[in-house]
Amino acid sequence: MIKLNNVQRSFGEKNVLKGVNLNINKGETFLLIGRSGAGKTVLLKTILGLLRPDSGTISIDSQEITQLSKSRLEKIRLKFGLVFQNSALFDFLTVWENVSFFLKQHTDMSRKDMRKKVSQTLALVGLADIEDMYPYELSGGMRKRVAIARAIIYNPKIVIYDEPTTGIDPIAVDKIVSLIKDLHKRLSVTSLVVTHDLETGLKIADRVAFLLGGKIIFEGKKEDVKNTKDKRLLQFIQGVSGGPIKEMEV
Ligand SMILES: Nc1ncnc2c1ncn2[C@@H]1O[C@H](COP(=O)(O)OP(=O)(O)OP(=O)(O)O)[C@@H](O)[C@H]1O
Ligand SMILES: [Mg+2]
Repeated sequence: MIKLNNVQRSFGEKNVLKGVNLNINKGETFLLIGRSGAGKTVLLKTILGLLRPDSGTISIDSQEITQLSKSRLEKIRLKFGLVFQNSALFDFLTVWENVSFFLKQHTDMSRKDMRKKVSQTLALVGLADIEDMYPYELSGGMRKRVAIARAIIYNPKIVIYDEPTTGIDPIAVDKIVSLIKDLHKRLSVTSLVVTHDLETGLKIADRVAFLLGGKIIFEGKKEDVKNTKDKRLLQFIQGVSGGPIKEMEV
């Protein structure tokens, strides 16, 4: 579903992606891990066509995207549902306005149908009767659910979660984990999760990739992560400062 071949991207002198190869299969839940500053968000942006790579190829749902025009890229982007870090809801809009945002932009559905679709989608994420509330009136966990509802309302083929469980309590984390797994099954999507929280990520994912030094240095099944012989991945899992990964290496 997502295939990256030797993707490179620099900002000035800084080589952030130094030849990333990645294969995310249709229907799987894929976890991308890496240190802060490793380039995870840059990688997400190149997958979304928001950043063009300097070289390499990216194919989304069997279509090569690196040479596409802006308007063609926008069409490809409709295949994605995005759940941003910190939920990124519009604070000045109600839940109804937030969740229906995409429908208003990209469909000519009637208001009545939209109301129905919004309440159905909110029900999918375990929420009801909050359409007229504002994000600031909700708890962090509820805001995450609203953000997920907004991401899935347009029936995306791929759902991307950037740090979906940061900033909420452990019980709420567990509920979000269950929700992501449940939605993954029900919507039969491909899911890509980016997080520092390896333990939570492993509860959600089928396969994992570790981005270090601008390359994917490990890609494998989640069962293989704990038994890895790669000393750099082991150091990351154990979260210790001493080891083969140097202080400044990301
Ligand atoms: N538009 C840009 N211009 C210049 N440098 C950039 C730009 N975007 C990202 N970078 C640099 O690329 C590197 C990787 O950033 P990125 O945000 O992808 O890290 P990350 O892995 O997502 O980190 P975190 O886990 O903290 O979110 C950083 O050094 C950052 O400063
Ligand atoms: Mg990031």
